[in-house]
Amino acid sequence: MKRYALPLLAGLLAGAALFSPDAGALTPWLRWAGYLLAAWGASWPAPRLQWAPGFWAVFALWAVRAWWLHNPPGAAAEAWWALLAAGLGPVLAYFTTARGYDPHFDLVVPWVYGHLARRQGTRPHTLLRLAQVQPAHRVLDVGGGAGRTARYMEHARQVVVLDPSPFMLAEARRRERLQPVRGFAERLPFPAAAFDRVVIVDALHHMRDQQAALAEVWRVLAPGGRFVLEEPNPQHPVGRAIAWGERLLGMPSRFHTPEHLAAQFPHARRVHIEKDAWRAWIVVEKA
Ligand SMILES: C[S@@+](CC[C@H](N)C(=O)[O-])C[C@H]1O[C@@H](n2cnc3c(N)ncnc32)[C@H](O)[C@@H]1O
Repeated sequence: MKRYALPLLAGLLAGAALFSPDAGALTPWLRWAGYLLAAWGASWPAPRLQWAPGFWAVFALWAVRAWWLHNPPGAAAEAWWALLAAGLGPVLAYFTTARGYDPHFDLVVPWVYGHLARRQGTRPHTLLRLAQVQPAHRVLDVGGGAGRTARYMEHARQVVVLDPSPFMLAEARRRERLQPVRGFAERLPFPAAAFDRVVIVDALHHMRDQQAALAEVWRVLAPGGRFVLEEPNPQHPVGRAIAWGERLLGMPSRFHTPEHLAAQFPHARRVHIEKDAWRAWIVVEKA
């Protein structure tokens, strides 16, 4: 709840300032701060659409305010202030957005995934069958987030959950047997051949440099080890709908066909693809 306190306070302040009629010398400044906060807030989680959401958010607010207060005096001058806020908000967002990963995973997403991670009954049967995790194994879940998947591998000797989002990892930290590590798939902070099993579940499409991430997975996988990659299948209508949904939310996701992903491991002893209705699993075995 603590992490929502500041944006909540800022939202309340912005709302009060925007919809107050003129009262004293302070309100125009407060109102400008309100527009700026609205532009900043709307742009913040959209790393590739930095401009558009902030711009439209401010003008929508400005129009609603003018309509609500029946075109208050000074509305024309205020349009210039709103324009300035619409320009500055996204710049502010650009400098305050987390670098190297999608900041959506610092927003309400951890709460959703944290809930899923704690709930019973979402056992990932196919992934577990394909990964064949044994008690002696060292397991790495790359982009493991809240530990939703890793918690089913807790019988292994070591289970590391790597993720760049501190908020997602805070959920994983609740489980005693999971070892959360903050980091990026593109630069795994582990020595070569450190893991017998590596999994990436529903996370590759969020990574900025997917080729570098897969090369890193190959490096940390021990000889005789196995890597299982789970992704939505963009060839299926549900997979395509997910891709569109994420685009609408401003997420910089990139999806690939299972065949394309399987072709990234030319040195593997064996690569095979398994599909269900809308997901695909690529299983890679290292010689
Ligand atoms: C949709 S969530 C899936 C989380 C988890 N694998 C699961 O199935 O519950 C995607 C995760 O990928 C993580 N992620 C995004 N970019 C990443 C990167 N460059 N390296 C590692 N993880 C990344 C996000 O922080 C997020 O936790």
